[in-house]
Amino acid sequence: MDEFELDRFIEQLRAAARDDAAVSRVRELMTAAFRNPASIRAAMPDYENDDEILFEDDNLSIWFVRFVPGLHVPPHDHRTTATIGVYEGAEDNHFYLREADRLVHKSTRRVGPGDVIVLKPDGIHSVEAAAGQSSCGIHVYLAPLSRIERSLFDWDSGEARPFTDENYDAMKRVSR
Ligand SMILES: [Fe+2]
Repeated sequence: MDEFELDRFIEQLRAAARDDAAVSRVRELMTAAFRNPASIRAAMPDYENDDEILFEDDNLSIWFVRFVPGLHVPPHDHRTTATIGVYEGAEDNHFYLREADRLVHKSTRRVGPGDVIVLKPDGIHSVEAAAGQSSCGIHVYLAPLSRIERSLFDWDSGEARPFTDENYDAMKRVSR
């Protein structure tokens, strides 16, 4: 099996993102790469920040994302397809639906080394590190995520608020 190389993987994702079948092509690339999470772990730099934009253009964003124990990232959407793979530790992804005046928890999925999940553009999740250990993953979005106007959702009422640093800080929770 080929060793994982970040630069090559980014080029593969860029080609996939330009394809008419971008959603499935990105999923296939991510699934294939994450069959060997140890190879990704060995190749990835030790980033200081908990998130790093590895690449972004008008139709693709690739992020390194680390979730740290104690922080529960509040419910949010992405307004584009999100494909998430984890190579170290695990993320607990909690999924929600909005009803009239509340946010309803529907399911939780623990995403561990080698797992890949795909969220639809209107999918809402909150995320925290699982089992008291940091997780590291690669998150791929089929749009320039840093420039998209997207939402955070009140934990109880489901009310949408702009995804700003200020709202994020006010809404984040301590993991239980
Ligand atoms: Fe997210």
